[in-house]
Amino acid sequence: MQFAKRLDKIPPYMFAEINRKLHEMVAKGVDIINMGVGDPDRPTPTHIVQAMHSAIDDSATHNYPPYQGAKDFREAAVGWMERRFAVTGLNPNTEVVSSIGSKEAIHNTSLAFVEQGDYALIPDPGYPVYRTSTIFAGGNLHTMPLLAPSFLPDLDAIPLEVARQAKLLWINYPNNPTGATATLEFFEELVAYCQQYDILLCHDHAYSEMAYDGYKPPSVLQVPGAKDVAIEFHSLSKSYNMTGWRVGFVVGSAHGIRGLSQVKTNVDSGVFKAIQRSAIAAFSTGEEELLAVMSVYQKRRDIIVKGLQSLGWDIEPPLATLYVWVRVPQGYSSTEFVTLLLDKCGIIVPPGNGYGEAGEGFFRIALTVADERIKEAIQRMKDAGIRYA
Ligand SMILES: Cc1ncc(COP(=O)(O)O)c(C=O)c1O
Repeated sequence: MQFAKRLDKIPPYMFAEINRKLHEMVAKGVDIINMGVGDPDRPTPTHIVQAMHSAIDDSATHNYPPYQGAKDFREAAVGWMERRFAVTGLNPNTEVVSSIGSKEAIHNTSLAFVEQGDYALIPDPGYPVYRTSTIFAGGNLHTMPLLAPSFLPDLDAIPLEVARQAKLLWINYPNNPTGATATLEFFEELVAYCQQYDILLCHDHAYSEMAYDGYKPPSVLQVPGAKDVAIEFHSLSKSYNMTGWRVGFVVGSAHGIRGLSQVKTNVDSGVFKAIQRSAIAAFSTGEEELLAVMSVYQKRRDIIVKGLQSLGWDIEPPLATLYVWVRVPQGYSSTEFVTLLLDKCGIIVPPGNGYGEAGEGFFRIALTVADERIKEAIQRMKDAGIRYA
């Protein structure tokens, strides 16, 4: 039987392809250093795992959860927003909904708000789900190039007729894949823009806690009035080494939350209550413990940046995220260079153009392998004669 035509419009998910290659090489006996997908290699902190042990022993967690998330989960999320960003006054009944990680919520937000003829404004390079969910919803894409050095979208470059037909504007700071950060002043500009054109501002804050050197990323909801036009997607995946648990929440505009919830009630049945209780434990993670988790990535970031500098790259350490965004040497396309790294060095990294056209000329390194393996990766590049200049 034929697949539905809509699948013809969706490119294969990049990491599904990369995984296929990885398994092929491993089967051939190649010792692969996988710095591809942003999946933390470290365990979930003990207090969260312990909360799961007691939650799962309580049979009250075993039936269907409330669609919008348990009341105590939503209240804990609101409390965390208040402690972490000083965002007060959020209503846990109307302005928060649990999500099965952010990926699901991003997809379902497009289904809730975008229809044929509508535009979604998406960053390029950007997390691929903004693009594919818009296509699934039948909408039009308008890409906002994120160019060096700031990697911020230029709002003035968006044509007026596109802005008028746009329903959603996606942003993500700290940014995957570029590692760039945004200021509260920039968020103010975005909020004003979305107010002017009646657009729902969707801030994907998957890396809100993954920051280094004392930097604390702001929330878009810190901007006065943002709650009228913005929703923010939070995920416990990266911050607490919980990618496999599938839990997050969306917070902000009651209208945005209502639309998303209407799709979700028809598509999924919420997050396992035991996982919600574990997430509540995660929200209470102390500053010291979080710093301990982040210091592992910060050290890896420093090793990779120093290593690349020693091979001729002119590169600064990113302030946030799990990623280092690196230019390919002259004479190579992104795809050619990552293929070279795989064939000559057994290193897996995604090509920048996998995140959109404007990612051409770059590749992304994920800080998800141990220090020794990063050093080994640099050594392999050196041995293969790979240099930037
Ligand atoms: C920018 C961004 N948003 C969302 C996600 C999805 O995260 P999850 O569905 O695990 O919450 C990712 C995962 O890599 C990401 O990089």
